[in-house]
Amino acid sequence: MEAQRTIDDIRGKVQSLKKEGNTIAFVPTMGALHEGHLSLFRLAQKHADEVVASIYVNPEQFAPDEDFEEYPRELENDLAKCEEEGIAEVFAPTDEIMYSGEQYLSIEIEELNEYMDGGSRPGFFEGILLVVNKLFNIIEPDFAVFGQKDIQQFRILQQMVTEFNHDVELVMGPIKRANDGLALSSRNKYLNDEQRKLAPGLYRSLQYVGKQISDGAKNVELLLEHQKNELEAKGFKIDYLNLFSFEKMKPVVKPESGSKYILAGAVYLGETRLIDNLIIEK
Ligand code: PAJ
Repeated sequence: MEAQRTIDDIRGKVQSLKKEGNTIAFVPTMGALHEGHLSLFRLAQKHADEVVASIYVNPEQFAPDEDFEEYPRELENDLAKCEEEGIAEVFAPTDEIMYSGEQYLSIEIEELNEYMDGGSRPGFFEGILLVVNKLFNIIEPDFAVFGQKDIQQFRILQQMVTEFNHDVELVMGPIKRANDGLALSSRNKYLNDEQRKLAPGLYRSLQYVGKQISDGAKNVELLLEHQKNELEAKGFKIDYLNLFSFEKMKPVVKPESGSKYILAGAVYLGETRLIDNLIIEK
């Protein structure tokens, strides 16, 4: 299978699929495809006749001190997986294609990116909105599938679709995990053996706190404090571990029944940043 490299080429291919009467589900990725990505492809196939994927490591969503250079790039391997999964077309542009000519515009976000990954990674979600906005305009899909793993990304993209009137329905895929519970991520490749053994500890902490909250625990702050201390004692460095409202992505101390929350954490093992979350419906 060959990737389409230019905007004209992918547009032509997608237009042919549409002319044949097919609906299109789109799955944007940064490649180094793992079972989590593949689970989104399979979910996409349930929603539409044909699935289009993109593979593009978007420089705009990496801060200067982040891992843009090291991020795994495995295009040939990824294309083989796409072919095996029955993906109709893959768009894999270069930076020159995606950001051709002077770029004078950017998208600003208010409130929804103040906490969680938005709080820790300034400019991250602005970079994501920029590239997904471009990709939606290039592919014009009927559906687009994103993972719960990056829940704040999903929430902010949902807002972009609403406010910018993109004619696309977003679909959220559940988090695919290794047998020991670790959320699959392209960045898990950075972990050494010892760190890989520790890594599922984040999910276990989330599960423990999630169960306590569902069982009606009152002092969420204390529970979280305790889990943070335990994780730190094991060798994790905590970025955040907290309960957030789904609507605003802001910290919540007292969950109320009838509302939707995200219990989310970001931690470091060495230099590697891991994120995970649970959705809690009270
Ligand atoms: P990337 O990290 O490659 O992820 C692509 C999609 O796969 C995202 O929607 C992400 O939430 C989903 N995903 C990652 N790990 C998953 C797992 N374990 N289970 C299920 N889904 C998982 O997210 C991005 O790329 C970029 O920000 C992008 C949207 C492509 C814009 O550049």
